[in-house]
Amino acid sequence: MTKPAFYVTTPIYYVNDVPHIGHAYTTLAADVLARYKRLMGFDVFFLTGTDEHGQKVEKAATAAGETPLELADRVMKRFQSLWEKLEISHTDFIRTTQERHKKGVSVLFERVLERGDIYLGEYEDWYCTPCETFWTETQLIDFKCPDCNRPTEKLKEESYFFRMSKYQEQLLAHIEANPDFIQPKSRRNEIISFVKEGLRDLSVSRTTFQWGIPVPGDPKHVVYVWFDALANYITALGYPDESGDFGKFWPANVQLIGKDILRFHAVYWPTFLMAAGLPIPSRVFAHGWWTVEGQKMSKSLQNVVEPNMLIDKYGADAVRYFLLREVPFGLDGDFSHTSLIHRINSDLANDLGNLLNRSTAMLGKYFGGVLQQPAQETELDAAYREKTMAMVALVDGHLEDLAFSKALQAIWEVISAGNKYIDETAPWTLAKDEANKERLATVMYYMLESQRMVYFLLSAFMPKTSEKGLCYLGVTEAPNREGLVWGGLKAGTTIAKAEALFPRIDEKAE
Ligand code: MSP
Repeated sequence: MTKPAFYVTTPIYYVNDVPHIGHAYTTLAADVLARYKRLMGFDVFFLTGTDEHGQKVEKAATAAGETPLELADRVMKRFQSLWEKLEISHTDFIRTTQERHKKGVSVLFERVLERGDIYLGEYEDWYCTPCETFWTETQLIDFKCPDCNRPTEKLKEESYFFRMSKYQEQLLAHIEANPDFIQPKSRRNEIISFVKEGLRDLSVSRTTFQWGIPVPGDPKHVVYVWFDALANYITALGYPDESGDFGKFWPANVQLIGKDILRFHAVYWPTFLMAAGLPIPSRVFAHGWWTVEGQKMSKSLQNVVEPNMLIDKYGADAVRYFLLREVPFGLDGDFSHTSLIHRINSDLANDLGNLLNRSTAMLGKYFGGVLQQPAQETELDAAYREKTMAMVALVDGHLEDLAFSKALQAIWEVISAGNKYIDETAPWTLAKDEANKERLATVMYYMLESQRMVYFLLSAFMPKTSEKGLCYLGVTEAPNREGLVWGGLKAGTTIAKAEALFPRIDEKAE
C-alpha cells in the first residue's frame, strides 16, 4: 500500500543573519509535525533552506569583504549545523543559489510572462531596503517603513510587473471557500481586509543591483527576491518537472511561517501560483514572535538568544520542549532563562523523569526488573488506561490544529496521572504482603505501559528522550502508529532502572 503524502515547509532563512531562536522555532515546529506524520504512516517531505539572493545579502557581503556567495556558503553552514544539533529531520535543504532553483524560477517567471501576467513598466515609489519592499506614500509612517520603521528612499526604475490586481477576486474567493487556508483566524481576517482594500500590481524585477536570478531574456533585471524565494517550495520538488516529487507532494499540506511574512505567503504566493496555473497550498500558518526577557530581539540590543549555546547547556530536547510548550503556537511569547529552567525542573526532571525513575526502580525492587503479566483490572486501573488511550486522539487533534503546546499538555496530563496512580496504589504498601503479588504486578504493568505510549508520542517532540525512555522500558521497536494502543509491553521483558533523564538545574547557580 502506498503511504499518503505530506509536505511541510519552513521559510528559507536569509543568510545575512545568523540563526537565533526565532528561526529555530519555525523549523522546530515543522520538525515535530514531520516526525509525527511519519509516525502516523505518512510519506513526509519536509523542506527547509536558505534565501541567498537580494540586495540585503549583497550589502552584507560587501560589508564583510566577501562575495555574496562566500557569505552564503559560510552562513548556510551555520543553519545546517544548528539543524543537526537540534535533531531536525528535514528531507531537503534548498539554497536559492542552486542551479535547480534558478532554473525553476526562470521557468516560473517565463510561464507567467507568456500568459501576459507579467509586463514591463516603470516603477516609482518608496523603497525599504531591509524589507526589500516598495510602499506607497500613504502607507508610510513619517516616511518610514510601516513594517520595520526604518527610513525609506524614493526609487524610480524600469521594472517588470506582476498583474496581481487581476487575481484579487479569485484570491478572495479562494480564502473564503477555504476557511483553513490562512491560520490563525485573526491573521486570516487581516489578510481578507488587506485584499479587500485592493491589490496593486507588483514589481517583480530590479535593476539597481545584480545579486539575483536574471530575468529570462532581459538580464539587466534580476528577479525580485520574494518571487525568487517563494518559488523554493516548488523548485525543491523538481519544478518545472511536474512528475516525481512535485507530482507527489504539491500542493503543500502546511506552510509554517512567522507572522511578519504572512502577506508574502497568503497574497503574493497564491496569486503567483494562480497565474502559473498551479495548485495552491492547503494551509499557511503564521506563528507569533519571540521577545527576550520582555524585549525585542535585536543585534543592537545584543540580546539575541543563540540556540547553540542553549543546546550545549540544556540539551536539544529541553530546548525543543520549552519552545513548543511555553507559548501557544500563533501567539507571541517571551523567552526568559528563569522560565526555561522552571520548565526543565518541573516538567522534565520532576514529572517525566521522576515517573520513569520511580517506576523502573520499583519493578527492580519488587520483581527483579522483570515485567509480569497484569491480572484483574480495577476501576482505578481502567481510568488510567483510558486516559492513556484518550491521549492518542487528543494529541492527534491538537497537532492537526498545530496546537503544539496543547498536545504536550495532553501528554503531561497522562504523566501526572501516572505519578498520581503510584501514590494512590501505593506499591510499597502492596509489596509488604505476598498475597498482593498479583495486584502489585498489575500496578507495575499499568505504570510502565502507560509510559511506553507516552514515549511513543514524545518521539515527535523529543526524539532522544523518547529513545532513552523506550530503551529503559525494554522496547526495541521504533515508535509506530500500530503501537499506539494499550498492551504493547510484553510480560517477561527486562526493564532497567532509569537514570535521571533530566538532572535538576540549580537556579541560583545559573
Ligand atoms: N527569507 C525570508 C523568508 C522567505 S520564505 C520564502 C525571511 N527570512 S528570515 O530569516 O528573516 O526569517 C525567517 C523566519 O524566522 C520568519 O518566519 C520569521 O517570522 C522568523 N523569525 C525571525 N525572528 C523571529 C522571532 N523573534 N520570533 C519568532 N520568529 C521569528 O523572512
